[in-house]
Amino acid sequence: MFIILETPRLILRRFTDTDADASLIYDLNNDSEVLKYLHEPILQDVANAKEILRDIILPQYAFNFGRWATHLKINNQFIGWCGLKHRPELNEIDLGYRFKKAAWGKGYATEASAATLEYGFEILQIKTITGRAHIDNLASISVLKKIGMKYIGESIIDDCPVKTFEAYNHSLKSQ
Ligand SMILES: CC(C)(COP(=O)(O)OP(=O)(O)OC[C@H]1O[C@@H](n2cnc3c(N)ncnc32)[C@H](O)[C@@H]1OP(=O)(O)O)[C@@H](O)C(=O)NCCC(=O)NCCS
Repeated sequence: MFIILETPRLILRRFTDTDADASLIYDLNNDSEVLKYLHEPILQDVANAKEILRDIILPQYAFNFGRWATHLKINNQFIGWCGLKHRPELNEIDLGYRFKKAAWGKGYATEASAATLEYGFEILQIKTITGRAHIDNLASISVLKKIGMKYIGESIIDDCPVKTFEAYNHSLKSQ
């Protein structure tokens, strides 16, 4: 297992090409409430999950970024993912997270995201990390605020009204 980081309650690791067979991504993306503020279709079958893994998630690891599978330390249960994604079309590194409903409201997103920011700055030496959430996605906005990201403003991205936040690597001289 390629572990990226650990927090008091969580382990973040790289997905592998066998995770789609285990249906982890399918289970996560097969819930309309999880996708409520994300313009993504509900997955129809495990084949779609395999495509997401192969075409979107795994290629990011070539650049050391990635959405990392997140497990509870206490029982190794998969609860979702958190991590960084290079978005060249926006010229930014995006912080993202998505957890199964059963894991909401326990502070896991905040814990995973704070550790991800630290990893991005200290290990990957990223200068600026961006976080975006639909204007009505109050839980996600709350997470971005709680981890200390700075509110930049509201805009329309991919036809969605979003709030944008940024965090800066103060150990690097220029932004
Ligand atoms: C967004 C998401 C990751 C949050 O996960 P989580 O583990 O519940 O987050 P946390 O428990 O760390 O923090 C959530 C905070 O939002 C608050 N919150 C949750 N729902 C809220 C709501 N409807 N209105 C206001 N605040 C809300 C919680 O009270 C908590 O804040 P607190 O710790 O100050 O009480 C989770 O809801 C999720 O996976 N949603 C679906 C995918 C998604 O939208 N991802 C983000 C895309 S930008």
